[in-house]
Amino acid sequence: MSLLETLKQWEGDFQTEVAQVQKNPEAEVVEQLRVRWLGRKGKVSTLYEQLKELGGEERPKVGKKINDLRTSVETSLERLKSISLQHAIDAKLTDRKLDTSLPVSRNFMGGSLHPVTLIRTQFLKEFRRYGFSVWEGPELEFDFYNFGALNFPDDHPSRDMQDTFFVADRQKLVLRTHTSNIQIHAMLQNPPPIRFIAPGRVYRCDNDLTHSPMFHQLEGVLVDRGVSFAHLKGMIDAIVKALFGHDVKTRFRPSFFPFVEPGAEVDMLCTLCRGKGCRVCSQTGWLEIMGCGMVHPNVFENVNYDSEAYTGFAFGMGLDRMAMLAFGIDDLRLMFEGDEQFHNCFPVYPAR
Ligand code: DAH
Repeated sequence: MSLLETLKQWEGDFQTEVAQVQKNPEAEVVEQLRVRWLGRKGKVSTLYEQLKELGGEERPKVGKKINDLRTSVETSLERLKSISLQHAIDAKLTDRKLDTSLPVSRNFMGGSLHPVTLIRTQFLKEFRRYGFSVWEGPELEFDFYNFGALNFPDDHPSRDMQDTFFVADRQKLVLRTHTSNIQIHAMLQNPPPIRFIAPGRVYRCDNDLTHSPMFHQLEGVLVDRGVSFAHLKGMIDAIVKALFGHDVKTRFRPSFFPFVEPGAEVDMLCTLCRGKGCRVCSQTGWLEIMGCGMVHPNVFENVNYDSEAYTGFAFGMGLDRMAMLAFGIDDLRLMFEGDEQFHNCFPVYPAR
């Protein structure tokens, strides 16, 4: 067979082989085809070998034909390679069987609200039912609002008792030790009658298993004509029952705070043992939850309220403790560590 005849036949052969590979375009098969035709000892190489033996005028003519064959083999192989790649991708996709109609995971990157936020929201809701509005006040505070106007005498041990973070001595700036400072801001800015609650962060130089240097309080004040201690008792008892259950009793014990007279501390029946005595309530059956009392006449004087015409009550509670009781959290540190597993126990808000 002459070289030209071989060339012609191989052109046909190559097309047949390409058609064959197209039926099953795996990368390996395509590579075998390439080696067979374009490899160092492949068919195209042998054609060039034979060309060397050809003489005279024929040589450039046949040489061009071989070049044409090589180019068309190269082009076909490139095309086969991309078909093969696509084939592999398709195979992978059908293999995975990804069901794109499945709903998106509900927990995907979903955060949750902090227990303090949850309990605060509940308290705000309850107090709003009694017509209380919500106030805020500064966390960096002048001595006057945190202590002075609240009837703490200059040399009163309460100032040390509260273990205050002093920020700047000369201007007497402190990190507020309680949310009671908001009482003064609110009353100086509004004439009576007034009723508000004020949640916020407070700071004390305390840091151990049961104390954190920053914690949360909720303050409340109601001033009007004819307000009595009975109003305070009735409302606090009703709100505790609304949040913790109707069998949860409260009791008021006399106590002292410079800005109220009389002053009291409120206990509620232990949420865990319902009064029987357990580890949480130190076997007493009761849990202390807030301080309260009738606003002291000296405080009224400091905010220019007429203490002859008006009376009022005030109360303040620790929200971290309330959250721990409400959700059965037995370690204060959990409240501040930001542990993801802990926070995943709480629902996102609004609850879905
Ligand atoms: N401010 C007090 C504290 O931090 C709590 C408190 C007691 C607030 C009695 C009040 C109150 O409004 O009447 O311990």
